[in-house]
Amino acid sequence: MATHLTLLGLGLLAGSANAVKSYANDWIDPGYIVNKSWNLSAAGAEETIISWAQQSAAYGPWSVLNKPATPPTGDKRDFMSWAPYWWPDCSQAENTTELPPSEIYTDCTYVRRDGVFNPDYRILTDAQSFQNMSDSVLYNVLAYAITDDAKFADSAVSFIDTWFLSQETGMKPNLDYAQMIRGVGRSVGSPTGVLDLKGMTKIASSVMILRSMKAPQWTVERDNGLNDWARQYINWLQTAELALRERAAANNHGTYYFNQLGAIQLMIGDFTGARGTIMDFLGGIYQGQIEANGEQPLEAVRTRPYHYRAYNLAGMITNIRILAQADPSVLPAIWHTPSASGGTIQTALDFAIAGGCPSNEADYASELFPSIGALASALGQGGDGKYAAFLSGAEPDYPHEAWFLWNQPLWDSGFTGKNQLKDEEESSEGGTDTKGGSVTTQDQGDKEIELESAAGRTILSRVLMSFGVTVSVLAAISWS
Ligand SMILES: *[C@@H]1O[C@H](CO)[C@@H](O)[C@H](O)[C@H]1NC(C)=O
Ligand SMILES: *[C@@H]1O[C@H](CO)[C@@H](O)[C@H](O)[C@H]1NC(C)=O
Ligand SMILES: *[C@@H]1O[C@H](CO)[C@@H](O)[C@H](O)[C@H]1NC(C)=O
Ligand SMILES: *[C@@H]1O[C@H](CO)[C@@H](O)[C@H](O)[C@H]1NC(C)=O
Repeated sequence: MATHLTLLGLGLLAGSANAVKSYANDWIDPGYIVNKSWNLSAAGAEETIISWAQQSAAYGPWSVLNKPATPPTGDKRDFMSWAPYWWPDCSQAENTTELPPSEIYTDCTYVRRDGVFNPDYRILTDAQSFQNMSDSVLYNVLAYAITDDAKFADSAVSFIDTWFLSQETGMKPNLDYAQMIRGVGRSVGSPTGVLDLKGMTKIASSVMILRSMKAPQWTVERDNGLNDWARQYINWLQTAELALRERAAANNHGTYYFNQLGAIQLMIGDFTGARGTIMDFLGGIYQGQIEANGEQPLEAVRTRPYHYRAYNLAGMITNIRILAQADPSVLPAIWHTPSASGGTIQTALDFAIAGGCPSNEADYASELFPSIGALASALGQGGDGKYAAFLSGAEPDYPHEAWFLWNQPLWDSGFTGKNQLKDEEESSEGGTDTKGGSVTTQDQGDKEIELESAAGRTILSRVLMSFGVTVSVLAAISWS
């Protein structure tokens, strides 16, 4: 018992300081990183990135093999997740008592109960593994750029090897079973499942940074291997029925589809394709996403409008940045692209800021901040002072956010204090991984998911990880 308490104590200390955040999405110009185009104001952001690189890497490497269930193909290398708002109705099954899970999944009829989260969603780890992997690759690549310490690049490429490239553990390039609805006669994924791989944008951004830095870890074999994977996945995104239905989604789901496709087209060197992809977005669903006053009507009708406005803004900004990477000549005018009713990304941001964060969404307040930083830096003199002044009130130590590093120039509001992001969380009692609401929240569009953040489980997982216990074992412990 004494041993247990000591271990828990260590887990608490190691884990609670400046907990890793998963920003909704972003694209980072590799040239900006290679040139180290930020100044001393970003020293706190550098510190945060290095800390997040190390903390996140402790959970890796990640693989689709870790999930404790096998897709209909019989091949665990196919990605699989379950649709979170669907519940079994076993009244029509032969036998209504004590059906074992394997029979419930196949013999009962699944029905949608909107807003009611089926906790067995968490049994399948692929979606969370991919999110953690893509964040860890990004933070480790940035930490490598900041420190020139090879260990960070080594971690990033080992995670890419395990998730994508290994013949034993690598994911197959499709999402045929993402957000799958179980039950009688049901054995395919849902269009919304495409969002499970939104982090491909971060992977593509990371790979372009490694290439630009000529990192010795980014070998020709790895480059060819990941490009091959990406070409097959692009083919899936452009031809599979599920993918095409997600592309047609008018709200944030569609926005994030274009994030993924455009980013990996950049990664394989198809700049013309990436440009066309984002132009399709701007001339297509973007047109209906912003009203003249800046309201995003398709996000406003959701149960957590502040969160969804911020989420779609991050996706729209990412699309603009992908386009600018493909064709820098579109800058700066492209930021002011009007929607059909004359709204722009800036009016959407201003509307979201003006609306404030309602108390029932307080956990999501900081989700808007990376987008504020992005526009402040992109618009320069036009908006810099106004937005940075807002940030200095809303989150005084914003210069210590990781995103501050790649959203320059940006006024640091003269902040000279200590890293409060870190100080606050060190003094808390643990279980603070939800700070800002961004770490453990995954947008699933129609399916709103709160991934559990129970302090006990987080700490237990850290302790187990330090003994090399795998994620699949953890899943069994936590959810059996
Ligand atoms: C990085 O520096 C090079 C050489 O000075 C320059 O050509 C390039 O435009 C810079 N890129 C960025 C994104 O600052
Ligand atoms: C029905 O229930 C029994 C007892 O729980 C179980 O052994 C059996 O496998 C179930 N399924 C069917 C289809 O009979
Ligand atoms: C993902 O990271 C969070 C902490 O940021 C952790 O609580 C969770 O267990 C991790 N899950 C996996 C599958 O790595
Ligand atoms: C860094 O640049 C910002 C403008 O983006 C400026 O306000 C700040 O004073 C600079 N800080 C240092 C230490 O040079």
